[in-house]
Amino acid sequence: MVKAIKKIGVLTSGGDAPGMNACIRAVVRTGIYLGKEVVGIKQGYQGMVDRKFVNMDSHSVCNIIQLGGTILKTARCDEFRTYEGRQKAYKNLKKEGIDALVAIGGDGTFTGAELLSREFDIPVICVPGTIDNDLYGSDFTLGYDTANNTVIEAIDKIRDTAASHDRLFFIEVMGRDSGCIALWAGTAGGAEAILLPEKDTGIEDLIQKLEKGADSNKSSSIVIIAEGDKNGGAYHVAKLVKEKFQFYDIKVTILGHLQRGGSPTSFDRVLASRLGYAAVKALEAGETRKMVGIRGNRVKLTDLVESINNNSFKLEEDLMEMSTILTI
Ligand code: F6P
Repeated sequence: MVKAIKKIGVLTSGGDAPGMNACIRAVVRTGIYLGKEVVGIKQGYQGMVDRKFVNMDSHSVCNIIQLGGTILKTARCDEFRTYEGRQKAYKNLKKEGIDALVAIGGDGTFTGAELLSREFDIPVICVPGTIDNDLYGSDFTLGYDTANNTVIEAIDKIRDTAASHDRLFFIEVMGRDSGCIALWAGTAGGAEAILLPEKDTGIEDLIQKLEKGADSNKSSSIVIIAEGDKNGGAYHVAKLVKEKFQFYDIKVTILGHLQRGGSPTSFDRVLASRLGYAAVKALEAGETRKMVGIRGNRVKLTDLVESINNNSFKLEEDLMEMSTILTI
């Protein structure tokens, strides 16, 4: 028989992502609606280890749906990677009366949640929250749409100045292991070339492409590079291209952490609300060690282990193929 849940702990962990607050709001309000108490755990797993708990009521999540970042804060916690650290965290949860968890974050968050749940038999449901969109089992992760819109705005602005000065720009976007932002935002921003960690694009290929552009009187170009691209980052690629293309005035922009902030788009707010709501409903239905994701615009559950083990390649094949044609 499934034990009734009385008190749910909610936390955000790993890199922050726009939409996390909207998700916290949905977890708190759904939990309260179902007659549970909800406790916020500050700074992710670190707060679990250090007993940083805060009681959440409906009012505590007023006016946060539109905010970027996370009101619960986030951290990476080395202690939680050890069994002893997780044991300490679990004892703290017990003392607080927390008997189930909703963890919002990326694959590191999922790994921690899965271990804690298995070792100490506490139900957990995870919500995919990372701008990288690199989690198996969900078409989209919280923050990805907002980050894409931030990047597109930047590309559009850089294009104005690139065209005015006849310059070649290399713009580096986030994605340590994932080319999702680069591919999506590069497509939407009409980039002349897109370099991704998932695809080996040699410098020679890139140069050939840029040469073709120059031959057809293109006077300015934008190349999007995911930070995890194997060629070694935007500055390095720019240097290699400059050696072949002396005549080009080349500039580099690293967009960096501005991609992680900002008010979530309507898509991210609704996705976050749906998944936060679904996470609490899943706990109530006796589910555990699952991720709530969105697939084909329907909420779906995926085993955490399955999600963790399959996160290597997620790019849309048609977008990859299309981008090589449309970027000419
Ligand atoms: O949130 C995901 C991500 O932005 C990666 O693309 C990036 O490499 C990483 O986080 C950097 O995060 P931090 O600066 O927190 O280490």
